Order: sequence, then C-alpha cells, then structure tokens
Amino acid sequence: MALLEVKNLKVYFPIKGGIMGRVVGYVKAVDNVSFEIEAGQTVGLVGESGSGKSTTGKAILGLVELSGGQIVFDGEDITKYINKNRSPYRMSVQMIFQDVMSSLNPKKRILDVIAEPIRNFEKLTKAEERKRVDELLRIVGMTPDNASKYPHQFSGGQRQRIGVARAIALKPKLIVCDEPVSALDLSVQAQVLNYLKDVQEQLKLSYLFISHDLGVVQHMCEKLMIMHRARFVETGPKEVIYDETAQHHIYTRRLLSAIPDMDPLKREANEAKRIKVSKEYAEERSKYYGPGNSVYDLKQVGDDHHVALPN
Ligand SMILES: Nc1ncnc2c1ncn2[C@@H]1O[C@H](COP(=O)(O)OP(=O)(O)OP(=O)(O)O)[C@@H](O)[C@H]1O
Ligand SMILES: [Mg+2]
Repeated sequence: MALLEVKNLKVYFPIKGGIMGRVVGYVKAVDNVSFEIEAGQTVGLVGESGSGKSTTGKAILGLVELSGGQIVFDGEDITKYINKNRSPYRMSVQMIFQDVMSSLNPKKRILDVIAEPIRNFEKLTKAEERKRVDELLRIVGMTPDNASKYPHQFSGGQRQRIGVARAIALKPKLIVCDEPVSALDLSVQAQVLNYLKDVQEQLKLSYLFISHDLGVVQHMCEKLMIMHRARFVETGPKEVIYDETAQHHIYTRRLLSAIPDMDPLKREANEAKRIKVSKEYAEERSKYYGPGNSVYDLKQVGDDHHVALPN
C-alpha cells in the first residue's frame, strides 16, 4: 500500500469579474492528476513556472480548496478533513516552502519558529521543548546557540535548514519540498540536497520534491512526474526519464535538453542538441497537444512509464 494516493486531483481558482464580482471563469491550476508516493520514497514533480506544481503540493497539505479528487493517506481517505487543523494527518505531512524568508516570521527567535508546530500539537515543558529544538537543530547541522537568533541573522542556506528543522519537528512521514534550493547559490545547493537526503534516511521520510529543473532532482528522486499546463505529460522511474533514448513527451525532451553539463568538452555538442530539440519542439508540438493546447491523458508506454499521447 502506498503512503499517499492522490486520485483525480483538481484545483480550479475562480476568476471574478464585473462590478458584482461574479465568477466569470476558472484558472485550472491542477486538472485531474493522479499519483502515489511509497513510504521512504522521493518523487520529483517537475515543470515550468505556472504549471501547477506548488498548487499540487498545497492541495496535499489542505492549504487550497480541492475542486475534485480524493486523497488517501496510509490507507485512509482523508479528503473530507484535509483542512482541519491539528488532525493527525496534518502532523504527518509538512511542507518546506519555495520562499523560505516569507515563511519564517521575522519577529520570532529561531527557538519559537521551530517550536511553534510542537506547541500546537504537544504539551511539553520549557526544558523538554528546548531539548527537542536543540536536537532538531543538530539534525539539520546547526548548533544550539542559534536558537536565540532571528531569521535575518542567517544566510539563505541556513534559513533553509531552519525551515527543514521546523518541518521535521512533529516527526512527519511526508514532506513536500517546494523548490527548496532554487533561491540558493549553486555551491550551497548541493550541500542542502545532501543534508535533505541525510535527514530522510535518519527519519525514514518520503519526499515530494518540486523543481522546475530536471537537473536538480536527478540524484534525489526515484520517480518523476513531469507537469505542463496543470496536467502530467509524463511519469516514470528515474532510469527511464533520464534515458534520452527512451520514448518521451516532447515537453520532457525539452526539459532534458535544458540540463546543463558541467563538462566543458561537451558544451558545444550540448548546444547543438538544444538547438535540435527546440526545432523539433516547434515542428512537432502539435502532435503532442490536443485542441486548445490541451494535454492528452496518460497512456502506458512501458513498465510504470506513462506519456500523454493522443488515442
Ligand atoms: N491563489 C490563487 N488564486 C488564483 N490563481 C492562482 C492561485 N495560486 C496559483 N494560481 C494560478 O495557478 C497556476 C499554477 O500556479 P502554481 O503556483 O501552482 O505554479 P508553479 O508550477 O508552482 O509555478 P512556479 O514554478 O512559478 O512556482 C498559475 O496560473 C497561477 O497563476
Ligand atoms: Mg511554485
């Protein structure tokens, strides 16, 4: 049994217009996506800006209203009480936000930032709480003396660690990591990815790892879901998604060609490949999208490998 099962998830945001503020249409941010995450697994959700990644993550946490679909966690259908605070589900699933600074209250000391979720769910004495916060700081590689400082006193990478410490405070089973490294310098990115992996092993966590870059998630994820225009255009195991010789959606091929290569000797060949894929994309994209640029339903093309193709 999967830890998380998301079935036919839809999130439509109403567009209001006119002086009456009536609903005149909807932005389909997530349109009928289904997926599963196993215990201990890391699943990548990749796509360009506006494709619906963060909304998918927020829907799992009950932070946006669902327009349709079902969410099953540990075998239990939790769709109805997903937005109830203080439910066991809300302890089990946490999110690390895209924009860390805005998710940390600037007026609160790190001790209070990290202890906040604990205070909401558990009754600990001050000494017990302090012990837990020190332990959490240690897990993310920071010393306990940081607890008395404020968010602005830290670098971006350190703030990200504080966000992680807060997310793991209630011993969750699943963390949605929304672009956790995209705001950081390249040199810090690898470091953050490594400690996220360490934390995962220590706490036996599952991750839903959101990124706009297939390169960033390459070494993190066992399974990938490629999102475009609120829908999945391709899903499959890492070995297949990164295999350039495998069958792919044209959008995935474009994302693959955008992964930078660190080897300077390959740079010219890569540039040529990128130009070729851009040309293909312009010529063949109509085969991969239906009327009104819609994304087709996923079709199985291999073991656990699905691509959105016409019937
Ligand atoms: N609260 C909201 N109200 C109305 N529209 C919204 C809301 N949140 C998101 N949207 C719209 O839904 C779509 C998907 O947004 P979302 O934030 O999920 O994209 P994303 O893939 O996370 O993009 P990015 O990579 O830029 O973070 C966008 O068109 C966005 O404008
Ligand atoms: Mg986003």
